Amino acid sequence: MSDHEQVLRELRRELTRKIVDFARRGTTDLAPEVMDVDVSFFLDPQLYEQEFQRLFRETPLVACVSSDLPEPGSYRVFDDVAVPMLIVRDKDGRVRSFLNVCPHRGARVVRDACGKASRFTCRFHGWTFDAAGRAVGVPEEGQFCGKIDDRKRLVPCPAEERHGLVFVQATPDSTMDLDAHLGQFGRELEKLGMAQAVAVKQDEVTVRSNWKYTIDTYFENYHLPSLHRDTFARVFAHNLCMLETWGPHQRFTFPQRSIHEWKDKPESEWDVDSLPAQHLIFPNTVLTLGSVSRTGSLITMHRLFPKSVGDLTTKITLFAPSGRPSAEDLEQIDANFRSIMAAVVNEDYSVTGESYLGLSHLPPGTKFPVGRQEIGTQNFHRNVEAALQRPPGLQTGRRAIAGPR
Ligand code: FES
Ligand SMILES: [Fe+2]
Repeated sequence: MSDHEQVLRELRRELTRKIVDFARRGTTDLAPEVMDVDVSFFLDPQLYEQEFQRLFRETPLVACVSSDLPEPGSYRVFDDVAVPMLIVRDKDGRVRSFLNVCPHRGARVVRDACGKASRFTCRFHGWTFDAAGRAVGVPEEGQFCGKIDDRKRLVPCPAEERHGLVFVQATPDSTMDLDAHLGQFGRELEKLGMAQAVAVKQDEVTVRSNWKYTIDTYFENYHLPSLHRDTFARVFAHNLCMLETWGPHQRFTFPQRSIHEWKDKPESEWDVDSLPAQHLIFPNTVLTLGSVSRTGSLITMHRLFPKSVGDLTTKITLFAPSGRPSAEDLEQIDANFRSIMAAVVNEDYSVTGESYLGLSHLPPGTKFPVGRQEIGTQNFHRNVEAALQRPPGLQTGRRAIAGPR
């Protein structure tokens, strides 16, 4: 077993110990009380505008993973928050980001999705930029009479790489304090080993729903026996969960149904390899440590990008953190991925899209009860509200709301 798999196994074992302890004591993580969520939280376009600005433009977001930019000159565009951005690994190996907008007359500089280049030439008038964003070639430069020296650069956006993830902040010329944003959660992300991760499957789902309404389903297992009766509920328990929080980030763990047999068995007999643990990198990225395939652990990343108050696209990538699987293993991974995607699309995304249509017909002031067992959903809502109430600038700190166990 590789060092990396050892780290993951130890993480699973540590989580399993805690959750078996819950099972032995006949308890689970519960919020202190029921939370009422006003239906306007999912419908109000003004609230959405504030959220989009604060959470998607002024907060670090996962734009890609390190292996998407494997070597100096590797680049890719990032357009998911309606700001055209270019992300490049420069010649020193550092990740940089720029507005993908030419300073001469605003043309889109890089038009393909990804690739490798040492120079980028704007097709409009041919200005050429290097990976540090400097214009290194301006046709007929003399005709600008020396007046462009301070404008010969692409506008930078903050970009940094941590734990195998590339974060950007979609506000040009701003500053980003990524370490403050991640806080101690960074140590948990490091354990996932995304630095070596290779993408093996990709997909996306578009749904007419609100992004928060959709994220909510990722952090409660209350819906398993009903919505996922023939799929996930066959494997996973619905009445046992653990929520851990680091600032606005959280990890939600729920065990297999067989946990109730393990509580009377020694640790050596637990099947720790299939414990799922969902990590929310606030606000929109869910990294799920999934089960172990023949070639090692698999991690799924869901990134939810809203397009409007009632429209979103979720980009889904399956990673093999221990390197590229063999062709034969890939076939098996592909079959599993398709069956999981079918449940996600036909069950989770289907119900969120279909239900969202009905929300606007409810009388104003209608409130939805979020139960004590839906503790992960409650915590997410609190953190969205807290982020909107804060003055500009990121704050961090461990903030747990877990109630009595
Ligand atoms: S707009 Fe890019 S060179 Fe003119
Ligand atoms: Fe679900």
